[in-house]
Amino acid sequence: MLGVIGGSGIYSLSTLVETRSVEASTDYGAPSSPLVFFAQEQSKADERLCFIARHGADHSIPPHKVNYRANIQAMVDAGVKRILSVNAVGSCSEDFAVGKLLLPTQIIDYSYGREHTFFDKLQSFDDHIDFTLPFDREWQQTIRRAATTQNIDLPAAGTYACTQGPRFETAAEVQRIIRDGGDVIGMTVMPEAALAKERGIAYASLSMVVNAAAGLQGDAILHGDIDQVLKTASQKIMQVVESCVAH
Ligand code: HPA
Repeated sequence: MLGVIGGSGIYSLSTLVETRSVEASTDYGAPSSPLVFFAQEQSKADERLCFIARHGADHSIPPHKVNYRANIQAMVDAGVKRILSVNAVGSCSEDFAVGKLLLPTQIIDYSYGREHTFFDKLQSFDDHIDFTLPFDREWQQTIRRAATTQNIDLPAAGTYACTQGPRFETAAEVQRIIRDGGDVIGMTVMPEAALAKERGIAYASLSMVVNAAAGLQGDAILHGDIDQVLKTASQKIMQVVESCVAH
């Protein structure tokens, strides 16, 4: 089963049909939204995809208030083995122009105060998970191949800097992130990626560039511009998701 944790809902899927919506609960509390399951049209008994809306069905949960542990645990309980995290990012680099999709390969975590681990009590040294490569390379290859069949260019490149939000960064913070080696900035990949790894789930981030990071193009980030880019990029994301399920 493929898990998708997305910023907004899954809609306009032409080859998948919704089968059920389940209010789940976990040892870590309730996930952000009901789990929505999808099957391929020809075999509705064969559910292939499980979706959680990260910010809630009504988009009211800010990045620092998301119950990342409950979201990942609910996916584990549903039998999910691979997660595609769909998220929006600002770009620090001309290599990642507005409108582009990418699969970042590294993370720098600037977030704080989030419940970020399942291992609040160590049972063995193995609980210190290896996180050298935070994203699953094989899973990224599969996603890239799926995107290619839709003529969508999806480079596996770039370092994702995860900030706390919900505000955007200052211009000076963006300059610091660039000096640190960050390429794109978002607010949600951490601790999601680490929690998935703690649970042995292959995790990849499908990031869509929706703006130039603060201070790189003018003195303000304009929400109207972001909305427009989001609409266009979301269509491509749906195509990638459908193609991943088909593969
Ligand atoms: N910064 C942080 N998160 C974001 C941005 C940004 O510029 N754009 C979309 N999510």
